[in-house]
Order: sequence, then structure tokens, then C-alpha cells
Amino acid sequence: MISGVHVVVLGENEHLPEDFRRAFTGLVSVRHMRIKAHEAVDIGNGTVVIIDADRAASFSPDEIEDLVQNQIRPVRPLIFVGQAKSRTPLAAHNLLRFGTFMCRPFSTGSLLDIVQFLSSQPRAVEPAPAGKASRTWIVDEHAPAMSAGENVLADLFSFAKGQSRLNQPDLIKTGDLLIGSLAESGLNSWVHGVRQHHDRTYQHCLLVVGLAVGFALKLQFRQSDLRLVAKGAFLHDIGKVRLPLDILDKPGKLTDAESAMMRMHPVYGEEAMRLEAGVEPEVLRVMRSHHEFLDGSGYPDGLMGEHIDDLVRLTTIADMVAALIEQRPYKAPLSGEEAFEVLADMHGKLDMPILKALAPLGRLI
Ligand SMILES: [Fe+2]
Ligand SMILES: [Fe+2]
Repeated sequence: MISGVHVVVLGENEHLPEDFRRAFTGLVSVRHMRIKAHEAVDIGNGTVVIIDADRAASFSPDEIEDLVQNQIRPVRPLIFVGQAKSRTPLAAHNLLRFGTFMCRPFSTGSLLDIVQFLSSQPRAVEPAPAGKASRTWIVDEHAPAMSAGENVLADLFSFAKGQSRLNQPDLIKTGDLLIGSLAESGLNSWVHGVRQHHDRTYQHCLLVVGLAVGFALKLQFRQSDLRLVAKGAFLHDIGKVRLPLDILDKPGKLTDAESAMMRMHPVYGEEAMRLEAGVEPEVLRVMRSHHEFLDGSGYPDGLMGEHIDDLVRLTTIADMVAALIEQRPYKAPLSGEEAFEVLADMHGKLDMPILKALAPLGRLI
């Protein structure tokens, strides 16, 4: 139950749309405000702002940007709500970096979940830099988990760059939220939602976390192992922040020298974490060894099978499935089933019993 939360819906009609009325009546205090361009909106503290993108049609994207950037004070968590077609102009003008987009029709429960989640965030939401939409399309039922996942990744990358401290409680809390969300709403909509994400690094990390947790749920891992899987997957590639962007974003094949640098990211990631208190050895192993193969042909240590534990094996499979189904400039994305077929040919390198148990999930992603 939500209490003490205020919501302001900005739209051009006086009446609150039916779906908002259903979601909010009796639960949160809600004000509907008509907005005019270049009009300052003072909404007060503790308020979540919703812009009804379907009802703000008379505003140009520039006016919406002005409203969001300059007129709404203080800056508050922001949700755009609208039909899929209302998202297109917002995305085209890079406005989704200011908030979260929820697609109509939505269930009242999931709107309340995300309002509750955003209102509980200790800090105001900082917009992503222009051209870097870090918070974009969120599929309804996973909205709180995905939004939390994005925040945690932003924190982890800033930690890996040496710009902030590691917040492990937040990481664990987000892992739990994600485990619950995947257990309840399934892998399919998670993968679908993540695929819409604009930022490739976020897309990859959120995909690997979702796949790894979804796989571990399928294999009926116990709760303590699910938590390690989520934590390890969130952290698995943070060492990449030490690599130059022109290697990370290179559209074509890497040269030998570039490959050698790329192969250092598991080492950099593990080094960054090793000195932190309370990081489990299983998590460190996932970070260092997720590119190892059972026949010793992987990197960075060329480990053989018996030295690669189950959590690492599972994360390796999640990482490879993610890479195969992702959209990259130089390759078409495979379907989930095709990705599992590719991996099934990698005898000797991957854990075949685990792969076989997971293969039915290929149809769902
Ligand atoms: Fe990696
Ligand atoms: Fe990865």
C-alpha cells in the first residue's frame, strides 16, 4: 500500500484519465494540472510527476524539454505515460533521458509499483547526458526492477571509474527486486524490455543479469545462490570501464592488440572488487572467469573444467546468449532458439547438461 506519496499528472485536459483514476483513487494524493508552455510549475517536495504523453500532444518536444529542464521545480522523479506511438517523438528528441516511459495499457499495480519505487529514491533523478539515454523504455511489469537495475549499474560504473564508493546493500536489494520480478513475470518481457534500451552497455548488462537470474530460477537454485548470481552478473563486465571507448564501440573485428586489451576486462573488474569488504569469492570468480571455457581455451587464465564452478558456468552461458541475441552494428541479432543452437555446438567448452536444461527457455527469449 502506498501512503504519503503525492503525484502530479501534467496533461492538457482537466479530467484525470480513467486509468489514472483507477490506479490512484484512495491510495495517493493526486493533482491534475493543465500545463501551458513556458509556465513555471511548482509541485513541491515528495512528488512524483507524470506527464501524460497522450494528452500533451499540443506541446512540441522543445516545449516539453523546456518544461522538464527549466519549469518543474524542484526536479522530481518523472514518468511519461502514453501509447507506444507517443513514445516515438519523445525518443526522437532524446527526452526519455529525463524519466521512465510506461506504455499504455498498464496494470494499475505496476503503475503504483513504479510510483512507489521512484518516490522512495533518496535522490532526485539526474537526467542522463544528451545523446545518452540511460533510462528509456520500461516494460510494464518489470518497471521497478529495471529502473533499479539501471541506477545500480550507473553506480557500479562510477565505482569502477574510481568516482564513488561501492554501495553493496543497494546492489543486493536490487538483485532481490530483480529475482522477484523475474520469478513473477518471467524472462520474456524482461528480454523484450531490455532490447529496447538505447545504451548498449546498459542493454548488455541488464540482459546478462536477467538471463542469468532467469536461468538460475529455471535450475531451481536456492535463494542464497540466486543472490550471488544476480550480484555477479551485475558486476561481470565493470572492468570494461578501463578500456578505451573506441575498442568497446568498434563496429568491426578487433585487431590482435585490441583483443588482448579487451581480454583484460575480467582482470580489471576483479581487481577493482577484490579489495572491497564483503564481496563473496563466488562473485569474484564470476567476474574473473566468465570468459573461461571448460577445455582451457578461454581467458584470462585458461582454466580447465574442474576449476570453473557452476555459478561461473551459468553466467558464461548467459553472457554468450546475451551477446548472440543483442543488436550490434555489425551483425543481425539471433533469436533465442538460434542462440542456443550455436551454443549447443560448443562441445567441450560449455557445460552441456546445464545448457540442455536451459535450452527450452530459448523459445521464450
Ligand atoms: Fe565479459
Ligand atoms: Fe559480458
